[in-house]
Amino acid sequence: MIHARVHVRLATDDDLLAINDIYNHYVAESHVTFDVEPVSLDARREWFSHYSAAGRHRVFVASDGERVIGFASSSRFRPKPGYLTSVETSVYLAPDATGRGAGSRLYETLFRSLEGEDLHRAYAGIALPNPGSIALHEKFGFKRVAHFTEQGRKFGRYWDVAWFEKALSESIPTVKG
Ligand SMILES: CC(C)(COP(=O)(O)OP(=O)(O)OC[C@H]1O[C@@H](n2cnc3c(N)ncnc32)[C@H](O)[C@@H]1OP(=O)(O)O)[C@@H](O)C(=O)NCCC(=O)NCCS
Repeated sequence: MIHARVHVRLATDDDLLAINDIYNHYVAESHVTFDVEPVSLDARREWFSHYSAAGRHRVFVASDGERVIGFASSSRFRPKPGYLTSVETSVYLAPDATGRGAGSRLYETLFRSLEGEDLHRAYAGIALPNPGSIALHEKFGFKRVAHFTEQGRKFGRYWDVAWFEKALSESIPTVKG
C-alpha cells in the first residue's frame, strides 16, 4: 500500500527536472525505454509543450511530500489525424518508489481525467521482460494484442516488445490509499 502522503496532480513546469531525472535513470540503466541518451531539460520542456491540463494529452505526477516520485502521460499515438482518438500511455516511478501502489494511483487519475474526452483506445508498448508494467496495465484493463520480436536494440542486444490495448469506454478500478 502506498504511503498516505502520496498525492497525484497535474504536472507543471516546475516538475520537469524531477520527471527528467526519473526518466533518465531508466535511459541509463534499463531496457524499459529505448532512448539511449539522457533527455536534456530543453528537450523535456519541448516534450511538455505537447500536453495540457485539459484535452487528450496530459501529464500527471505523483509526489510523496515535496518529492516527485513518478509520472504518467497520455501522448499522441501517431501524427496522422486519424489516430487522434488513440493515445499511448506511459508511466515511470523513481526506482525506490515502485511496488507500493503509486503506479496504480497515477493511472487511476490519468484515466479518470480522460473520461469524456474524444478518445477510443489507449496503447502501451512494453519492452520485455517487465512483469510490473504488465501487471499494472492488465489491472487497468489493457489486453495484450501484439508481440513484436526483437523490435528494439539497446545494450548490444535486441528486445521483444508486447503491445497492450485498452478500450477507453471500460471501467477504471478504484485504487485504495
Ligand atoms: C511499472 C510501474 C509503473 C508499476 O507501478 P507500481 O507502483 O510499481 O505498481 P503498483 O504497485 O501500482 O502495482 C500494480 C499491480 O501490479 C502488481 N505488480 C507490481 N509490481 C509487480 C511485479 N514486479 N511483478 C508482478 N506484479 C507486480 C501489483 O501487485 C499490483 O497488482 P494488485 O493491485 O492487483 O496487487 C513501476 O514499477 C515502474 O515505474 N517501473 C519502472 C519503469 C517502467 O517499467 N515503466 C513502464 C514502462 S512500459
